[in-house]
Amino acid sequence: MKIISVVGARPNFMKIAPFIRAIETHNAASAGHIEHILVHTGQHYDDRMSRAFFEALSIPEAEINLEVGSGSHAEQVGQTMIAFEKVLLEEKPDWVVVVGDVNATLACSVTAKKLHIKVCHIEAGLRSGDIRMPEEVNRLVTDRLSDLLLVPDRLSIKNLEKEGAEAESIVFVGNIMIDTLESNRAKAAALSLNDILSGNSLDGQNAVDLEKGFALVTLHRPSNVDDKNILTAIVDFLANEVTSDMPIVWPVHPRTIKQLKKFGLWDVLSSNVNVVLLHPLGYHEMLRLNMASRIVLTDSGGLQEECTVLGSPCLTLRWNTERPITLKENGGVSVLVGNNIERIKAEYANTLKETAKPNRPELWDGKTAERCVKAILEHKA
Ligand code: UD1
Repeated sequence: MKIISVVGARPNFMKIAPFIRAIETHNAASAGHIEHILVHTGQHYDDRMSRAFFEALSIPEAEINLEVGSGSHAEQVGQTMIAFEKVLLEEKPDWVVVVGDVNATLACSVTAKKLHIKVCHIEAGLRSGDIRMPEEVNRLVTDRLSDLLLVPDRLSIKNLEKEGAEAESIVFVGNIMIDTLESNRAKAAALSLNDILSGNSLDGQNAVDLEKGFALVTLHRPSNVDDKNILTAIVDFLANEVTSDMPIVWPVHPRTIKQLKKFGLWDVLSSNVNVVLLHPLGYHEMLRLNMASRIVLTDSGGLQEECTVLGSPCLTLRWNTERPITLKENGGVSVLVGNNIERIKAEYANTLKETAKPNRPELWDGKTAERCVKAILEHKA
């Protein structure tokens, strides 16, 4: 059997690492050999957004890089499709495996199906219900086309059934990101917080004492960072209110750096001694900060999931989530606060009264990748 798996952007790397390892384990143990080729579309290309993760998670270098880089959605998807079609015609795989919900996920699943190649989607069935999110479009199209839908939780099965997916194409495997979290936890725990700050500072504020707790912030969604009024209100709240309770540590996404500078907000943050602005962090560094944080304020889906397993109280700066299993009402740690400052303030005050409550949803057990490989091998056409 020949499999091509695809990565494009940062959140894909922690999902593909355990999958590749599970293929290697399968190949070492059994008679049936799986030939595997990794394709990187090149959507994320900065060392800190890409290469650092390959190194930290021991992902073998991608055999093929499509080098699509930055651009509008249509440019990224179109260029990926054109380049990926050539790869498929040359390599003729039995399966294309895509993960998550980024532009690579959509582009490569469509290209494969047009060439009648089977598609497997790892992390299928998540739905925010918000079609204005680019990721929701990617999820809907990819799942509609996939032959094998590998879901992280039972809520996702319901979503797929509602859309008419065939029951035989859905397999509940658990959350593959948690495989990566579990196998890297000990290494992350051994890192020094001070070293993380001094090695990644963007603003030179690295003498802050984090021992008494800090707020960990990440923001990158267009809905939060592309609108001047919204981003200004969030920055005001962080810089003027949160910092009176505790320091803020904020690894800043490249899109957000651009927007903060464009809206004249960068100096407000970088001149505040209680705000530590960092480059995008490596996997272990981010995990270490999450483990030590008193509260996480984020619009990242993956971070919501990691907070659930680690127990870090989490305010999700979105109005909806495709990951409802991470919400408090479903046993998780996260509260949806959107980007309305009054709501953020109220939930922030509530959350500060809480302590860490780790939760482990069903099959988030660190063994998802082997179930993914098994599901592919057992799939009946
Ligand atoms: C993408 C994903 C999103 C994911 C996020 C994690 C889609 C639709 N979105 O969004 O789901 O949560 O990655 O990071 O696929 N840039 C750099 N260096 C890089 C990559 C990007 O400077 O290595 C800049 C780009 O020029 C662009 C901005 O960052 O201005 C955004 O990058 P882009 O790849 O378009 O999407 P993300 O917002 O990162």
